[in-house]
Amino acid sequence: MKNDLLLVEKYRPKKIEEIIGNEEAKATFVEWLKGKRKSKKAVLLYGPPGVGKTALVNAASKEFGFSVIEMNASDTRSEKAVNEIAKPATSYLALDTFTSESKGNVLFLDEVDGIAGNEDRGGVSAIIEIVEKAQVPVIMAANDPEIDKLRPLKKVCLLIRFHQIRLPLLISLLQKICLLEHVKADFEALEHIAQNSKGDVRSAINDLQSLSEENHVLTLQDTMALSSRNKDISQDETLRGFFSAKSVEEVSSLLFRSSVDYDEFIMSVSDNLPRRYTNPDELAAAYDFVSKADVFRGRIGTEYWHLLKYFFNALSEAAAVAPESYKPFELISPPIRIITLFWTKGKRTMLDGICGKIGAQCHVSHSKAKHDFVPFVKMIIQKQKSTDLISWLELTPEEVDFLVKMNRY
Ligand SMILES: Nc1ncnc2c1ncn2[C@@H]1O[C@H](COP(=O)(O)OP(=O)(O)OP(=O)(O)O)[C@@H](O)[C@H]1O
Ligand SMILES: [Mg+2]
Repeated sequence: MKNDLLLVEKYRPKKIEEIIGNEEAKATFVEWLKGKRKSKKAVLLYGPPGVGKTALVNAASKEFGFSVIEMNASDTRSEKAVNEIAKPATSYLALDTFTSESKGNVLFLDEVDGIAGNEDRGGVSAIIEIVEKAQVPVIMAANDPEIDKLRPLKKVCLLIRFHQIRLPLLISLLQKICLLEHVKADFEALEHIAQNSKGDVRSAINDLQSLSEENHVLTLQDTMALSSRNKDISQDETLRGFFSAKSVEEVSSLLFRSSVDYDEFIMSVSDNLPRRYTNPDELAAAYDFVSKADVFRGRIGTEYWHLLKYFFNALSEAAAVAPESYKPFELISPPIRIITLFWTKGKRTMLDGICGKIGAQCHVSHSKAKHDFVPFVKMIIQKQKSTDLISWLELTPEEVDFLVKMNRY
């Protein structure tokens, strides 16, 4: 499945009927949009990420002949900014409803929960004012409507709740995509992807794409990397289990279930090996396996997850060089933790910087840049080595390297 396009883009629903799940929420929204919105002028769609909120607003507006004027609430740091963007829009919108061929416009404030922190004082009340003055439908979307500062907004809106997409629906969507993309996928593999996505269609489709990019075949084994990324066994717990395991198989299955960051985990294992093996030969053998694991980790990079089993095997061998000589020992934790904390913080900072640059150039919020743009930019840079894009976004060589190698966003 070599695609120059992200599948989430390719299969972005264009019609309401293509949006799976949340039938009640969809119906309520459509009723409201079609004009039965007498009680409330505005609507707030809320629920977990990647379930089709933004997709519904765009598909439904198109189907019913509305043009969407999008305003990103995360960009509106102040009342002034809200007024600058939205107020002229609302007054012109009111005129436009009489002149345009279309049914008129809808104002769409996506990600309103992005209005965060003290600096936004005024942002919410300005939006409420817009809702009150607007003569066109105002649509808002958010992930977490429980945030205190959104409470006043909830009073002026019809609230429509979205839920995670149920497993069977998600699996059949993945099956449909596989059919169209000529991927031969085992049912169990798709089931596993769907389960791991926790009902988030965007992340399920992204996982499907990254796991089947190389081959057109997808087995349950190929999707194992996902559960190891998602299950919750802490780093310390995994480390302890790693050293006390009795066999390669035991370690391997532990690693499959753990959510550790593999790069960090290799560092921790290396730090602790001398405490585990006092015999120099055993220690040397164990380091040898760790270095092999490290090579596999490098080959896996960001996409060759089917090599994960070799990585696990090599690392497991390091733990099981001499099971009979195991004695409980105190794990080295503070020094390595300091290093790794720095390291992961470095990764976060790097991603934040990149999202900031994308946001500034593309006029989108930080969160939109992260979810919708970063995967795109990463793909364009990886596949087409687009130097134009790199210089347009003013990305540094380190940032480009980071993007190309990153495997989670
Ligand atoms: N219910 C769905 N049916 C079909 N495809 C979907 C659905 N939900 C999400 N997708 C896919 O995921 C992508 C992202 O969906 P969308 O932007 O609508 O999510 P969202 O609910 O607005 O998430 P967020 O809260 O992060 O903004 C879509 O382009 C589409 O490919
Ligand atoms: Mg959205």
